Amino acid sequence: MSDPAPRVPAAESAASADPDAAARHAELRAAIERADRLYHVEDAPELSDAEYDALMRELVALEEAHPQLRTPDSPTQRVGGRPAARFGEVPHSRPMLSLANAFDQDELRAFDARVRRGLGLPPAPEPAPGLSYVAELKIDGLAVALHYERGRFALGATRGDGTTGEDVTANLRTIRSLPGRLPEPATLEVRGEVYMPKDAFAALNAEREERELPLYANPRNSAAGSLRQLDPAVTASRRLSAWTYQLIEEGSGLTTHAEALARLERLGFPVEPAGETGLDIEGVVAFAERWREARHELPHETDGVVVKVDRFDLQARLGTVARSPRWAVAYKYPPEEVETTVEEIVPYVGRTGTLTPVAHLAPVKVAGSTVSRATLHNLDEVRRKDVRVGDRVVLHKAGDVIPEVVRVLPERRTGAERPFEMPERCPVCDAPVVRDEGEVRHRCTNPFCPAQVAHGLLHFVSRSAMDIEGAGPAVIVQLLERGLVKTPADLFRLTVEQAEGLERFARKSAENLVAAIERARRRPLARVLNALGIRHVGEQTAIDLAGWLAEQVPPAEGESAAEWSRRAADFLRAAAPEEYEGVPGVGVVVAASIARFFGEPVTGGALTALLDAGVEAEAPPRRAVAAGAGPLAGRTVVVTGTLAGFSRQEAEEAVRAAGGHPAGSVSRKTDYVVAGESAGSKLQKAQELGVPVVDEDGLRRLLAGETA
Ligand code: IVH
Repeated sequence: MSDPAPRVPAAESAASADPDAAARHAELRAAIERADRLYHVEDAPELSDAEYDALMRELVALEEAHPQLRTPDSPTQRVGGRPAARFGEVPHSRPMLSLANAFDQDELRAFDARVRRGLGLPPAPEPAPGLSYVAELKIDGLAVALHYERGRFALGATRGDGTTGEDVTANLRTIRSLPGRLPEPATLEVRGEVYMPKDAFAALNAEREERELPLYANPRNSAAGSLRQLDPAVTASRRLSAWTYQLIEEGSGLTTHAEALARLERLGFPVEPAGETGLDIEGVVAFAERWREARHELPHETDGVVVKVDRFDLQARLGTVARSPRWAVAYKYPPEEVETTVEEIVPYVGRTGTLTPVAHLAPVKVAGSTVSRATLHNLDEVRRKDVRVGDRVVLHKAGDVIPEVVRVLPERRTGAERPFEMPERCPVCDAPVVRDEGEVRHRCTNPFCPAQVAHGLLHFVSRSAMDIEGAGPAVIVQLLERGLVKTPADLFRLTVEQAEGLERFARKSAENLVAAIERARRRPLARVLNALGIRHVGEQTAIDLAGWLAEQVPPAEGESAAEWSRRAADFLRAAAPEEYEGVPGVGVVVAASIARFFGEPVTGGALTALLDAGVEAEAPPRRAVAAGAGPLAGRTVVVTGTLAGFSRQEAEEAVRAAGGHPAGSVSRKTDYVVAGESAGSKLQKAQELGVPVVDEDGLRRLLAGETA
């Protein structure tokens, strides 16, 4: 972590001595939010963990003294803040180097000229016996070192400062494309790049947008943020992947990089297939040109080409300068930024009534496709970027997928540009638009707004929800316009005869649609919960909520899905907001949103209406230990800090095996907090809430069925 540069006075200037608590509160909050953004979103922390914890502690103390300052959106009320403890340090066996860059073909040829000179070979186009290059795609992720001992994955670290990295072994174990065991008992080190596929990045940001969390700027930041989570369960949920490109193995007898790549493949490591061996520099140039456009079709983000001298003896002769090898170079494609004009800014009404300003752009080609729309997220964002109708803007694709206005070109303004204003009435239903206290979003106040209803239905039938094939926007709009469907439950009453009357529908397509709806009558509870469209509840939260619900309302022997769904629905309608804080990963804001949804007559009745229409939600599969069994049955346990005898993952597995529920955050519902070395904010929260805290021995006693 870099040198501290706090923009706030030292945290020790106690809050109680500060006459203006509210001002100090705002200051601390801004500093913490900035630190969170730098840490999680930009992966460029400026505060040390200790400084961050000090700010957070001061904020907690200030809110203790002035409870009116503790609003639901205060950083103290949020789960999944910055990890309180650090990762262990791992010294690298040899430095993890960075690469010199080349920005055009001439710089690539200059690299070749330097290599030839270094090896005493004649300049191009003379033949250079023995010299050839390997060209690989440069994957935009973060470098890791993986250590295998006698064929087993033993230790994994981030690059860190190149000399020492962070121990992220438990998190790397969650990456399925990396082998846990090798086909032979080899002891070796492999280096490679952990990345987040573009579609996973887009899905993660969609989920974060849903939960109104800050978005990740690109797949590299989201990969780094996901790998550097103290809770491996979070990493596991993030769909990371990896490519490997370096093998360090004593006595392997390998003489070239190409041989090393072949051995990596034989050992079961993922090796990016586009790479080519045996190239001269013109072959490298051709490779780079070939992938310039084609890379946008790849599932992962690629920002260039890495060129390496193939023979290890030549690499050794060339050596290293200033932390970069002389035998390799990174050819960087220029960032794909284009200019276009904002023709209009249009507020779109979404499923939860949020008005999202969207820039309509003069169509322009960027990163492999033509773009004519870019979301501006909310009014604050429009103002921050100062985007006006008529502006010339710079556009790119975040993570090669999501069109984004990077900045406005004010020097290109003519004076005819028009600032965007949020409408006072909903553009779809004319109901008043409001901005709630402490919220960034503007929303339409009419729960029956046709835009909300249509989006709600489209979400309901979508792939991640009820997955009803053939119910696309054209069909949904017609069903709504003809009054055949007003709510999701109505879909399950649609007849073939009614569907046949739709435009471009024949008997067969009507039958198909009704059959698809029929198939959707039985879905896992998580899908049904996601389908309901509860604000702040995306796919992942729905899965967590379903798992939690199955623990609260355990399915009885021989109980049908229909019977169980009804009991689960009754439970949801009766639960208090605090109860939902027991759902893993759910904090005050999300809990309140879930409770509000089930508490309000219109939305709260939606689940029961579905059940009445014949939908059955299946309980999630039981855990290995049946609910009600094991020494920790029904207990929620939070493990924090470093334990001597267990990794975090092992401790959580042990809790689970004892019938307990390992959770990521402390709430009043937590039964025990297991605090190891350098436990931070979770320990503090436990103390504040009076949750019993035990040490490692206490955990052992609990696992053995004794009292802590
Ligand atoms: S080789 C000395 N190969 O780019 C060899 N690096 O700018 C150093 N990277 O830290 C690494 N794809 O994180 C290599 N095919 C590839 C790569 C690659 C991405 C990253 C890696 C490295 C950085 C250097």
